[in-house]
Amino acid sequence: MKTLYLRISITIIVVMLASSVTSFLLANVYYQYSLKPYNDQKITHMAEDIVDFYEENPEVRLDQYLNHVGDLGYQIYLVDASGKGVAYGGAFRDQTLSDKVIEQVLTGNVYHGIRELDSKFYITGFFDNALENSIGMPMVIGDEPHALFLRPNIEQQFGELRVFFAKILVMTLILSVLFALISTVYVVKPIRKLTEATKRIARGQYRIQLNVRRKDELGQLASHFTQMAKGLEQLEAMRQEFVSNVSHEIQSPLASIQGFAETLRTGKLPPEQQEHYLAIIAEESRRMSQLSKQLLTLASLDKEEEVIEKSKFDLAEQIKQVVFMTEWSWREKDIVIEMELPSTLIYADKKLLHQVWVNLITNSIKFTGEGGTIAVSLHPQENGLQVKVWDTGIGISEEDLPNIFHRFYKGDKARNREGGSSGLGLAIVHKIVELHDGHIDVKSKLGEGTTFTIWLPRL
Ligand SMILES: Nc1ncnc2c1ncn2[C@@H]1O[C@H](COP(=O)(O)OP(=O)(O)OP(=O)(O)O)[C@@H](O)[C@H]1O
Ligand SMILES: [Mg+2]
Repeated sequence: MKTLYLRISITIIVVMLASSVTSFLLANVYYQYSLKPYNDQKITHMAEDIVDFYEENPEVRLDQYLNHVGDLGYQIYLVDASGKGVAYGGAFRDQTLSDKVIEQVLTGNVYHGIRELDSKFYITGFFDNALENSIGMPMVIGDEPHALFLRPNIEQQFGELRVFFAKILVMTLILSVLFALISTVYVVKPIRKLTEATKRIARGQYRIQLNVRRKDELGQLASHFTQMAKGLEQLEAMRQEFVSNVSHEIQSPLASIQGFAETLRTGKLPPEQQEHYLAIIAEESRRMSQLSKQLLTLASLDKEEEVIEKSKFDLAEQIKQVVFMTEWSWREKDIVIEMELPSTLIYADKKLLHQVWVNLITNSIKFTGEGGTIAVSLHPQENGLQVKVWDTGIGISEEDLPNIFHRFYKGDKARNREGGSSGLGLAIVHKIVELHDGHIDVKSKLGEGTTFTIWLPRL
């Protein structure tokens, strides 16, 4: 398996090698164009000095003099007119030198071997201990023309230094490879941890501990990852709660249907009792059907934008229809309905908004006592409109108020069971208003009444 660790290590080592080779090549260019001519000039100067000094002081013993110069760190090769040569200072590893070059120097020309030798492109040429790699200077000894070849004795001048630098280079290479291998462990470690965490989330374990104190990209990744894990955990909890709520809501009507059906099967009941039980079964079935309808609505609303089908219609007209549709139930309770509904056009999903008014108005009717009042009003505003549904009902307690829009939340559980409600109505209202980019607000006082205020954009 190609691990990230291996990849990063190899990349670092390749980069190191590539940069070493590149800098070596660049150093060679520098040597070729700058160092080599300078070096040539320096040695030429030295050779001139050596020759000048001897020619000005012919009384000096030549071999002693040249031996001294050799001891100072130079290699010398002196050739006489007959072509016979003597070496002073260290010996040349490669002593070949063409007759043409010797001839040329004997006739009074300076030979620039250091500068001109083409094969010595690489900086290693600087260290090449060859006679060719020297400066040739004409020299007159007792009226005889001679040729003096000179080059620095690198071995003597830089011997130890060369070994020293070579050792440093090798050590640097080995150590940097080693450090690259070690440091990569630290780069890869947090990624390994993240992978481990991902696996744990996949197994359903959401409590993960990651180092989120790091300030770099990995730290950010870890912090976002932890947030995501928390989000998933909440989502999972919500899902479980939802499933248990649904099961609970289905379980109770089913239990009563089952119970009454069993009782009816015994067959020894007076007709009016039978009638009563059958009515309960019918009511519970209706309730279950209502619940499944609401759940389907919520499921489709959860798919977000896809479900919205906008059209232009008169909102006042729609609300009036809902009020008339529910007339039977508010008349039964002697509730007075007040309406302030000026005709107002809106561009929205007609079916979904109908659901909103049905849910709000039936709530008001359900939670308002005999002889109460319900008011529905519509106020066009800039860019949007406001609908208020107000009642003089039982009101909502302060602790219930923040929860009424949650799925399955019912204020007074016992009473609502009889009324056959599931606590999904306001959750649906909230979702629909949200899908229309509007908002809903509620104000209520226990025992005095409740006001729902909805704002919707007109377009
Ligand atoms: N107009 C109101 N007056 C008093 N309490 C209300 C009013 N509207 C809603 N509530 C409270 O908010 C709770 C949630 O309302 P919601 O419409 O979501 O559920 P529900 O009416 O109980 O059931 P469903 O609408 O699903 O049949 C209600 O149980 C009730 O306690
Ligand atoms: Mg309701």
